[in-house]
Amino acid sequence: MEDISLHILDIAENSIRANAKNINIMIIEDKKNDLLTLTIEDDGEGMDDKTKEYALNPFFTTKKGKKVGLGLAFLSHSAEEAGGAMKIESEPGKGTKITATFKLGHIDRKPFGNLNETIKCLKITHPEINITFNHIK
Ligand SMILES: Nc1ncnc2c1ncn2[C@@H]1O[C@H](COP(=O)(O)OP(=O)(O)O)[C@@H](O)[C@H]1O
Ligand SMILES: [Mg+2]
Repeated sequence: MEDISLHILDIAENSIRANAKNINIMIIEDKKNDLLTLTIEDDGEGMDDKTKEYALNPFFTTKKGKKVGLGLAFLSHSAEEAGGAMKIESEPGKGTKITATFKLGHIDRKPFGNLNETIKCLKITHPEINITFNHIK
């Protein structure tokens, strides 16, 4: 994945597939602590413990007609490459929250990409979903 905006597209696609009505995307840049935090939270179907456990395995997917699922594995990899980590919080019937952290100034931290265009694109293609985006600096 080239940049963080493409990770957002990919992770939000999971939320859409899980029939979320609301997706909240947030980026917090904390220069003082050299920390970038990305969270994508949805009120979709959520994951049971088994799905959550397997979700990071590239050879696990619940997508029909597909043999590999890489979205979460890629984001996790990007976070770790930049001195951070990824966390999945999810409950069936409640929703899912994905949190990825990065060292803001890490040489391997992916650039943001065009965040506003990406969010606009998501909103236009999914007018039925309430998508919010906050970028806090
Ligand atoms: N927001 C979400 N809500 C419910 N299930 C999810 C969510 N995100 C991921 N999953 C589950 O984790 C699996 C792996 O996701 P991902 O790594 O993006 O690969 P893919 O979307 O290609 O299957 C999905 O197939 C789905 O079962
Ligand atoms: Mg996916």
